[in-house]
Amino acid sequence: MVDVVCVHSFRGGTGKSNLTANIAAQLARRGHRVGVIDTDIQSPGIHVLFGLAGDDVTASLNDHLWRGRPISEVAHDVTGDAGPGRIHLVPASTQPGEISRVLREGYDAQVLIRGLRTLADELALDTLLIDTHPGLQEETLLSLVVADTLLILLRPDRQDYEGTGITVRIAQDLGVPRTALVVNKVPPHLDSARVADEVARTYDRPVLAALPHSTEMMALASAGVFALHHPEHPLTAQFAAMAGYLRGAGA
Ligand SMILES: Nc1ncnc2c1ncn2[C@@H]1O[C@H](COP(=O)(O)OP(=O)(O)OP(=O)(O)O)[C@@H](O)[C@H]1O
Ligand SMILES: [Mg+2]
Repeated sequence: MVDVVCVHSFRGGTGKSNLTANIAAQLARRGHRVGVIDTDIQSPGIHVLFGLAGDDVTASLNDHLWRGRPISEVAHDVTGDAGPGRIHLVPASTQPGEISRVLREGYDAQVLIRGLRTLADELALDTLLIDTHPGLQEETLLSLVVADTLLILLRPDRQDYEGTGITVRIAQDLGVPRTALVVNKVPPHLDSARVADEVARTYDRPVLAALPHSTEMMALASAGVFALHHPEHPLTAQFAAMAGYLRGAGA
């Protein structure tokens, strides 16, 4: 049975897409069959990390949601050097007309939810990672309903703290089985262990990691998956530990 992991944050730019891509790579390195789906239809981006330009996205989630194209047909194998497992990416379209359509019309979340299950079955996925649009709009709430694990990212920033509390409560109300937190972009003057401890106590949820603000990650600038570019880096070891947690939790 596939383990569905939703990666979310209340505010934008916290590092969701990079975290999702790196966890995918670490799971594939362990031999897992991983699906990654970009539900950030309003501002898609994770395809870039896997080496696809917008023009390479000739088949997308949009085709499935609005034109009924089978979801397995719009998945791209982006495994590259991340094997022996596989990574199948369902990207969202970068065509301006497609993006304005989602803003105008939204999409039927039930179609998405059925699509996720079909994708997992047809590609025999062990884990399905959902990269989300920040904030809590209706579509995101519905995709939370299918998650076995919700990973909420936050920066050590007061605006992130308040929004995270709201998301944790909503996940609880929706009955999401597991919610865990990841603090990202911790500046060097803060003690990561202490930050993790405070966040865990504040929200009464496990903190999988408090990741440093990394100049190497900034330098990579989403031109690739960090763990594949820097296999020996301490940050890569932290991504591996998170993949291990997810695997232990059922992934
Ligand atoms: N630990 C880190 N240290 C330094 N830079 C980071 C770190 N994590 C992510 N970044 C950078 O932050 C920026 C935003 O990352 P990313 O696109 O993954 O965030 P996001 O939460 O998916 O954004 P959005 O809400 O727009 O979808 C990117 O430039 C990325 O390289
Ligand atoms: Mg993103």
